[in-house]
Order: sequence, then structure tokens, then C-alpha cells
Amino acid sequence: MRLIIEPDYARMSDVAANHVIDRINASEAAGDRPFVLGLPTGSSPVGMYERLVEAYRQGRVSFRNVVTFNMDEYVGLPENHPESYHSFMRRHLFDHIDCPQANINILDGNASDIDAECRRYEEKISYYGGIDLFVGGIGPDGHIAFNEPFSSFKSRTRVKTLTRDTRIANARFFGNDPAKVPQCALTVGVATVLDAREVMILCNGHAKARALQAAVEGAVSQAWPISALQMHPHGMIVCDEAATYELKVGTYRYFKDIENI
Ligand code: GLP
Repeated sequence: MRLIIEPDYARMSDVAANHVIDRINASEAAGDRPFVLGLPTGSSPVGMYERLVEAYRQGRVSFRNVVTFNMDEYVGLPENHPESYHSFMRRHLFDHIDCPQANINILDGNASDIDAECRRYEEKISYYGGIDLFVGGIGPDGHIAFNEPFSSFKSRTRVKTLTRDTRIANARFFGNDPAKVPQCALTVGVATVLDAREVMILCNGHAKARALQAAVEGAVSQAWPISALQMHPHGMIVCDEAATYELKVGTYRYFKDIENI
């Protein structure tokens, strides 16, 4: 695993955006098939999205040959609700770039047959030859997408009940009332994320320090879904200094050293 430690959120976002741009441009140069990009919501990737939009405006990247798959979506929240992940993605990215509408995939949390919707999503990912780069965030309890603690590492796209912790953490988007946060979400599984050829997780702020410690130094355990990243051949976490507070000094120095060489 690579752990890239940046001084602050702005620099973390620079590194993440540049990585995505490099990968898209390399794929464009190779010219064989669309680049398949997995995308998260949440506050962590907002800075990265701002930079991707800026890079598009400057002509440094185009998304016309990119196919996207979002990680998750709330169940039962209207698609045009300001806090739906459909709205979030339009607001922060898709309304500002040239990604064709037909290339954008987000789970339908209002599908009449939820299980069929989840199966369809997995099949569509396979149809495109799998995900090249999955970008993700991380919950304070170590969840990735909406794979809450004790999610199976073999899990695939499915419906999940959100934990009290996650509803409290996400209440800030729903008038600070955890009861207003939807109870369930559709989410890609841990195995869906791990199947990607590369995974890049963004992790910033003190609130994520325990999750980062578990991800990097902890045992691989379903108690911390993010720890599954240790089994990925091309897993990478980009974090800020604040998120490193629970790491051992030796761990911190190791990753600083190795990235400087
Ligand atoms: C939500 C999302 C996750 C996200 C996590 C962290 O639960 N489903 O995909 O990674 O929150 O969000 P934030 O980046 O706002 O801390």
C-alpha cells in the first residue's frame, strides 16, 4: 500500500486530482477503450472535484472518453433532493465537465426492484471491462462507500442499513438531524471496490485518524472495512497531516521517506 501524506486538505486534493488526470490522459493516449472511473461523494472529494473541473476548463483533461460509476446512493431519497448523491455529483462535477450523460452511472435508490438494480450495476461494470481506478472516501468508523463495519470482504452491490454512527456523521447534510438521514443505501461492495485495477482513498482531518490507523497499521478485519485495502496490489491512500495523529512515529516516517525517494 502507498500512503501519501500531504500537509493539508488543499495539497491532498491536488495530489488526488493530478493522479486522476494522469490516468485519464494516459488512457486517452493509449486510445483503446474508455477509462472507467469509480467515484465517491462526501466532503473529502470536494477539493479534488474542484480541481478536476478547473483542469477541464484549462484543457488539461477531457472526460469524453471516461465512464463513471458512483459508489453509492441513498434509498428512497428523490433524485433531485439536494442531498441525493445524484444531485451532489451534478453540482460538484458532472454539470461542469464534458462527460457524456450516457457514460455516467449512479445507482437508482428509487428503483422498484432494488436487487435487480444492484445486479444491473455489477453487470454494467463488467460490461465495461471493470473499473480502472476507484476513488473513495472513508468514514470515521472505517467504512468505504456504505460498507459499514462487519461488511463481508466478498460483498457486491447491494442494499445496506446505515449504522447510527454513519447517520450521525451524515446528519450535517440533513439539518443536523440524524433521523432525517435515510435509513438505507445502495452501495457497491467491498469486493466491487477491490476488483478495481487501482484504488485511491482520500482521508483528511482528525476525525479520520483512527480509521487511518486501522487501515494502515491494523489487522485486516471486517471490523474496519477499509483494512481490506491491504489486500489490494495497487491500493493508495492520500491523506493530510491531521489524519495521521494515531499513526506510530515509525510508520509516519516510513511513508514520508519512501515517497521522498
Ligand atoms: C458517506 C459516503 C462515503 C464517504 C463517507 C465519508 O458515508 N457514503 O462514501 O466516504 O461518507 O464522508 P466524508 O468525506 O464527508 O467524511
